[in-house]
Amino acid sequence: MKIAIGCDHAGFELKEDLKVYLEGKGVEVVDLGTPDGSPVDYPEIGMAVAEKVSTGAIPRGILICGTGIGMSVVANRFRGVRAALCHDLYTARMSREHNDSNLLVLGGRLLGKGIAREIVGVWLDTDFLGGNHRRRLDRIGRLDEERLKGQGPKRKNKPLGKKNLKRRNAGKGI
Ligand code: RB5
Repeated sequence: MKIAIGCDHAGFELKEDLKVYLEGKGVEVVDLGTPDGSPVDYPEIGMAVAEKVSTGAIPRGILICGTGIGMSVVANRFRGVRAALCHDLYTARMSREHNDSNLLVLGGRLLGKGIAREIVGVWLDTDFLGGNHRRRLDRIGRLDEERLKGQGPKRKNKPLGKKNLKRRNAGKGI
């Protein structure tokens, strides 16, 4: 497994610790910065990591800024990137099982090193469930295509009313 990792100054300490953890697990880590704790604008690093994941050059990425919010906003602009901001083990697991997240985002000012390592571990070890979740991700993939063609999001139908929504989703599980 190969992972691209990046952070701004607010995530630097956590990035360094996670590199040690990941390498200990046999993961090949590609560090795209920042190289030290001096102030840097998070979009630059976020774009570098998200681009690797978007092009498929590196299958998975981890981004860290102070809250994780800025990095999430940047990364999710890239085609095919499903960046998940996770603060706990439940969101880490669900981001893989339901959303097939390929980029994990962490808040360096929120998380201690211990919980951050556990979040990364769960995120790495959990598989996508497919099924209904595949259909929903395919829809998001088509949204990417529509936006690239400059058509904006397309809806086949008007938003469904409560009754029809219930009927359409009957038996489909969560
Ligand atoms: C930097 O102070 C901070 O704004 C950044 O790390 C991040 O939290 C942005 O969302």
